Amino acid sequence: MPQHPSLARTRRSLLLASGAWGVLAALKPDRALAQAPAGSRIGVIGAGRIGGTIGGLWVKAGHPVMFSSRHPEELKDMVAGLGPLASAGTVAQAIAFGDALFIAVPYGALPQIGRDFGSALKGKVLLDACNAVASRDGSVADEVEQEGVGVVSQKYLAGARLVRAFNTMSYAIFAREANRPAPRLAIPIAGDDPDAVKVAAELVRDAGFDPVVVGKLADARRFQRGGPGYGQSVSAAELRQKLSLAP
Ligand SMILES: NC(=O)c1ccc[n+]([C@@H]2O[C@H](COP(=O)([O-])OP(=O)(O)OC[C@H]3O[C@@H](n4cnc5c(N)ncnc54)[C@H](OP(=O)(O)O)[C@@H]3O)[C@@H](O)[C@H]2O)c1
Repeated sequence: MPQHPSLARTRRSLLLASGAWGVLAALKPDRALAQAPAGSRIGVIGAGRIGGTIGGLWVKAGHPVMFSSRHPEELKDMVAGLGPLASAGTVAQAIAFGDALFIAVPYGALPQIGRDFGSALKGKVLLDACNAVASRDGSVADEVEQEGVGVVSQKYLAGARLVRAFNTMSYAIFAREANRPAPRLAIPIAGDDPDAVKVAAELVRDAGFDPVVVGKLADARRFQRGGPGYGQSVSAAELRQKLSLAP
């Protein structure tokens, strides 16, 4: 029988409070996180402008967030400023920490991250904000142009349950517009794993925006750099209209 959402949330809160959520997630890594419960842990790979901004919004929403860097000691002041829900670690620690992950690094780093952390990423919901820029990222930007950004990200981060999100606007816009009065700013998302897309949608809401599901990873091309959905600072209704999606 379908469960009322508030009951489901209460049950999740109880699971969280009892520590059972972690057990559930460990037992069923591929399916346990069908929705992102309040307080689910997030690991951020790349705590620069976009990772720091979106991760900070999740901290504000009550999620424990581990920000990572190849030099985690440099994140000390940032996490101190965000309060006790924020912590800093290595990339490996953030991946292990997160029920869900967010990656915001120069696109050219994805092949190396996939090689070095592939087994740890396996089965994890991974929101990917990385954009390929030829002048910065080299030949992988050509692959993105030819194959589409979602397909190429998934190729290098194989095994992760990848959802494209938060790639279409500047971190400054995200910082300014988060949690604004309705209509909220729309964030296009796309992924092949329906449960992962649900988690991503919930995390987009928690950060203070309205998710718009554009389709599968192949459809993420529609909002990659140069695509019609890129740079659109509009409401969900307007974005759906611009992309000819069902209202
Ligand atoms: N800036 C924006 O407004 C914006 C908006 C949407 C999408 N994006 C995309 O988001 C990504 C990040 O952009 P950004 O502006 O946030 O960049 P940024 O401020 O330069 O931060 C990038 C972060 O990536 C980390 N990093 C770099 N290479 C890494 C590697 N090999 N392994 C692990 N971490 C690595 C760096 O951490 P350490 O050097 O400390 O390890 C740094 O904190 C890019 O793909 C960009 O196109 C940016």
